[in-house]
Amino acid sequence: MKIKSLFLISLLSVFFSCEKRPIEEYSILPAPQSIGEYQQGVYKLGKNVTIAYNGDLKNEADFLQSKLNQKFSLESNIKADAQKGNIVLKIDDSKNSDKEGAYKLQVTSKGVEISSGNSAGIFYGIESALQIIKNENGKFYVQKGVIDDYPAFEWRAFMLDEGRYFKGMDVVKQLLDDMSSLKMNIFHWHLTDDQGWRIQIDKYPLLTEVGSKRDSTQIGNWSSSKYDGTPHAGFYTKDQVREILKYAEQRHITVVPEIEMPGHSSAAIAAYPWLGSGKNQITVPCRFGVSEDVYDISKPEVVNFLYDVIDEVAELFPSKVFHIGGDEVMYQHWLSSPTIMKYMKSNNINDPAALQVNFTNNVSNKLSKIGKRMMGWNEITGDKIHDYQKSKSIAESNQELSKDAIVHFWRFEQNLMEKSAKNGYDIVNSNNNYTYIDYSYEGIPLSKAYSFSPIPENFPEELKSKIIGSGCQMWGEWIPNVDAMNEKVYPRIAAYAECGWTNSTNKDYDNFKVRLQPIVDQWVSEGKKVGPID
Ligand code: ACM
Repeated sequence: MKIKSLFLISLLSVFFSCEKRPIEEYSILPAPQSIGEYQQGVYKLGKNVTIAYNGDLKNEADFLQSKLNQKFSLESNIKADAQKGNIVLKIDDSKNSDKEGAYKLQVTSKGVEISSGNSAGIFYGIESALQIIKNENGKFYVQKGVIDDYPAFEWRAFMLDEGRYFKGMDVVKQLLDDMSSLKMNIFHWHLTDDQGWRIQIDKYPLLTEVGSKRDSTQIGNWSSSKYDGTPHAGFYTKDQVREILKYAEQRHITVVPEIEMPGHSSAAIAAYPWLGSGKNQITVPCRFGVSEDVYDISKPEVVNFLYDVIDEVAELFPSKVFHIGGDEVMYQHWLSSPTIMKYMKSNNINDPAALQVNFTNNVSNKLSKIGKRMMGWNEITGDKIHDYQKSKSIAESNQELSKDAIVHFWRFEQNLMEKSAKNGYDIVNSNNNYTYIDYSYEGIPLSKAYSFSPIPENFPEELKSKIIGSGCQMWGEWIPNVDAMNEKVYPRIAAYAECGWTNSTNKDYDNFKVRLQPIVDQWVSEGKKVGPID
């Protein structure tokens, strides 16, 4: 009787261990384009995981190994040129024509396989896999199923403005980590502005000796007359930049440098006064807001200075795209400068906005000669988007922007975006009313951030392909420290990531919030301040 009941119990336990678990739906953010049929059951990962890879995927295998350890305390070994393992990373040459970043992730009773035509796809497959590995009392398993995924947009950017406040290498690395787990692929690094120059340039040492420091900083808000009374300083050496670039490259993130010209250039003019078109010597501004000091682009030595800076920055950054800013150029100094007036006349330039286009085209030519492509905020088109331009200007700009330029829309006007697309420009949509992370949560709550579509409603079908993606922008004026920054960035960065990766037809805000929760928990456990979820 006793033996019989023991037998029954063991039979029952065998039965229950084979019992069908309920299928656990994958929780992945950004949402994959397609999750195929789930299969009954799970794949169990043992204590020591074998990662197998073919081709040139050592970087991805190493990344997976370190993440398995960091996130789950799982040990793993890596086998190169191998077909078999618990997690297989497979470059599939038959998928050469895949979109950059597309991947297939299959979980079967044989293991987890991630395949793609390119290493970016393998990397994103890994990021998805890391989100679906589950821990049950120290045992790790993955629900069986198939994911077919690819990015909706090729440009999925996060911008950090360090011109206003220098944050430093650790903060940048933390952001790169979070970007990569959200499959964002462009770190747009705003390195110079009126209030600070943040990158070493060997030929012009005063840019950092003078331009990276200010005596005090305005605090509160734009109209405040309060200052903190504390000097602020900081810049990246070239070696530090290289370290960050390597870190980003390992995470399939391209770092796009932004060097502002011809406006937002007070820090450089404070360092080298001959760069400016104003009459007075200035210091690095302690007050925020746009300065009237701009480069005197009619002087050959100023243009040569800018080309020298471009050469040094371009040599450092592998990115093909080079951002030249170009926003909010104030005209007062130009309009009162005899050399500027003479230059405009002799080059048949009718207006300051046209002068900016003329200058921008010269910079674009310079960049294409060294194998780079210029990008700038949407003022570079010569279209007048500010009241101060409209009141001062008498005519449409008579200069046409170089066709190779990427136009970065921040002040959104649909007719101007359509016009740029019609004129053949590639466009990145960073509509400030949706994507400016420095804006308050009252202005841009998470739900509004999530509702952003890089392609505006009713955009002409035939022009949609000109919009290559979007960016979200962490402007730095009122974020003196990391907590203040984090509270703005998290959780909205996740919404922007999904806007860039996931086709709009696959977006669902309620479902997004469910998938967001474990990520928020992770951020909180890392000590990050997280803003409200509405
Ligand atoms: C900008 O916000 N001035 C691009």
